[in-house]
Amino acid sequence: MSFLYKSEPVRGARWAELFAARAPDIDFHIWPSIGDPAKVRYLAAWQPPENIAETFPNLELVFSIGAGVDQFDLSQIPAHIPVVRMIEPGLVAGMVEYATLAVLAAHRDWLTYAVQQREERWQPMPVRTAGTRRIGVLGMGTMGQAVLDKLRDFGFPCAGWSRTEHRLPGIECFAGEQGLGDFLARSDILVCLLPLTPETRGILSRKLFLQLPPGAVLINLGRGDHLNEDDLLDALDGDHLSAAMLDVCSIEPLPEGHPFWQHPRIMLTPHIASVTQPDTSAEAVLDNIRRHREGLPMVGLVDRVRGY
Ligand code: NAP
Ligand code: GLV
Repeated sequence: MSFLYKSEPVRGARWAELFAARAPDIDFHIWPSIGDPAKVRYLAAWQPPENIAETFPNLELVFSIGAGVDQFDLSQIPAHIPVVRMIEPGLVAGMVEYATLAVLAAHRDWLTYAVQQREERWQPMPVRTAGTRRIGVLGMGTMGQAVLDKLRDFGFPCAGWSRTEHRLPGIECFAGEQGLGDFLARSDILVCLLPLTPETRGILSRKLFLQLPPGAVLINLGRGDHLNEDDLLDALDGDHLSAAMLDVCSIEPLPEGHPFWQHPRIMLTPHIASVTQPDTSAEAVLDNIRRHREGLPMVGLVDRVRGY
């Protein structure tokens, strides 16, 4: 029986070592070496190879290397094969670091000071306390909850929005379409940590921006296709939003000449908010293989109907 890994090779080499130590009965292959395709029971990929059902007739489980699965065409994976997304502490810790950095940078006006420095301008702005800056996180899943937990400790009034009702100590919780307006109206800094699904595609639009308080900041850490890019430029140029921090874009890498590159009120990073860490992710995958073998529920099992 074998495990096929198709993603970043340095992480793959570490997974191979950990599998050899922890699951020596599983032959570990790193793409493009696939061994005997009939022996492949487990596949882990950021983007799976084409025709996986025909190529790997005995496949039992597909793992996403990332927390999201929107990069998969789930219709190409036979319905009887469970798809499991990545839930591992290293990926969560990275997201908490990045979201905290971005929220604090927005709160303390770092984008404005970066522009002022280039203009050789020494111009202090009023310093607001955390208690007067309201943070809203779209998505209260693994990432959203961990981020809210950390931000609350700074004294920011924090709220989260999800599809179903949640309760989190010290967090104002909103759910569904009916809760979205009130959630947005109290969010000075809006962080997107939603999965990309047919319901959430394009959610960061003019209609949503207009429901935020004037001068709000957008931080998109979900997927590029959550955002309507033209609507963002209009909202920034019309001064309804004061800044945007974007880790993800519709087309990655962002094309040459795209208006986001030079926009003074946009901060870009190249989809690095968080990255699956080799050791902790291998542990998470090995644990799910054990669970699968023992007939226990797996952690991060994707609901194909919901799309996340
Ligand atoms: P998750 O645990 O599945 O959480 C998703 C959250 O979004 C849940 O709270 C869910 O609501 C909510 N949601 C989904 N559809 C919704 C809708 N239509 N309306 C309202 N709320 C909705 O996912 P996660 O592990 O936190 O990851 C979230 C996303 O972060 C990933 O899918 C990926 O796109 C992104 N991500 C980005 C990076 C990066 O480096 N930029 C790294 C990791 C992850 P319920 O709780 O009610 O189900
Ligand atoms: C990264 O974007 C992930 O989904 O883990």
